[in-house]
Amino acid sequence: MNSQILRGHIVHAPKLGQLEIIENGCMLLEDGRIAGIWEKLPDAYKDVPQVDYSDRLIMQSFCDMHLHAPQYPMLGMGMDLPLIEWLNTYTFKTESRFADTEYAREVYRRLARELVDNGTTRVCAFSSLHLESTMILMEEFEKAGISGYVGKVNMDRNGSPELQETIENSIRDTYAWLDRCDPKANIKPILTPRFTPSCTNELMAALGKIAAEKHLYVQSHLSENTSEIAWVGDLHPDCPQYWDTYAKYGLWNDHTVMAHCVHSDQRERDAIKAHNVVVAHCPDSNVNLISGIAPIRQMLTEGIWVTLGSDIAGGAILPMMGVIAEAIRSSKCKRISSNWTTDFLSVAEGYYLGTTSGAHYFGGGDGFAKGDRLHAVVVDDRKYIDTARLSVRERFERAIYRAQTADIVAVYGEGKKIK
Ligand code: GUN
Ligand code: FE
Repeated sequence: MNSQILRGHIVHAPKLGQLEIIENGCMLLEDGRIAGIWEKLPDAYKDVPQVDYSDRLIMQSFCDMHLHAPQYPMLGMGMDLPLIEWLNTYTFKTESRFADTEYAREVYRRLARELVDNGTTRVCAFSSLHLESTMILMEEFEKAGISGYVGKVNMDRNGSPELQETIENSIRDTYAWLDRCDPKANIKPILTPRFTPSCTNELMAALGKIAAEKHLYVQSHLSENTSEIAWVGDLHPDCPQYWDTYAKYGLWNDHTVMAHCVHSDQRERDAIKAHNVVVAHCPDSNVNLISGIAPIRQMLTEGIWVTLGSDIAGGAILPMMGVIAEAIRSSKCKRISSNWTTDFLSVAEGYYLGTTSGAHYFGGGDGFAKGDRLHAVVVDDRKYIDTARLSVRERFERAIYRAQTADIVAVYGEGKKIK
């Protein structure tokens, strides 16, 4: 067995709003799994090799529960249109380039690197509709040490001439893709109907059948934008609400990830909660695409499973620390617009949503849980003002708002050092 001790200030969030700090702590890893955390190293382990991150912060690494890999080339651009117009003007064009596998290889290699460099070690990602590029995305994530889920997108209507499948190709390629996925890999497949307007009823039904047959999770978009919701209503006059369109076809299941849920009302939120659907809150995207401010405090009060997503490139912030800060800001906007009747998120709560809450999706425990493979970042903030005088809690808070990529000096994913 390979044992090591990591030393540093350990900061983790086992429960929503509960931060645990072990100053000058020690963490024992056995074959990459957390075997113990102490303030003082027990004598029994004093001969175990040590990695010294003294006076640096050992924090949980991040889960990006909603991102579009083939939108990486347009990151930071095209922020002048709302959702549907944005898709038709910029997004479909960008994604269509992933018919080119050489381009996909280059872009996805760089995306994987940037994710790891910023401490994102687990993802729930959309690819494009292209089968070969989806395989390449899975390979590049795997090679970089990222784990989680990647979905080949299904879309057989309302795309563009360069980005749309026939239903036959969509189903055939989905099966072919699933056959090629390595069951032992850390990157696993997830069924990904783009959103209701992108999929015919027949395709939705076929995907629901595949989900049941092959026991696969599902990810999609829900109630992001008011025009989108009205459009879904026109397409499915028999469905009282947007979520019913997924439920009708077997896509509204335990662990289904729904991005956005900005305009989900009480009935829709009740359905989210009742079915253990996971909300991927994408605060930066929701403002960039002028979608709205999601009622996250309300969802948390109701016991809904909320996680965070960068939603690049609707979101322009790839590092999850930035997304956490944005989630906090967005909760304050909600507080302002509610006449101070809803509470905002604390930094500890934002950190929990960006780490533990997502980790649960991948079978992880609470915070740095014993027995889990280590997912962590090491932040060196010693160059910032007053570090020697600050408490670890203050330094943690500042790191969330201020840490740059270069300050993340080490990253661990699945128990391995990947940066
Ligand atoms: N709804 C359908 N497709 C997309 C997408 O690519 N991004 C976002 N934000 N919403 C979507
Ligand atoms: Fe999205």
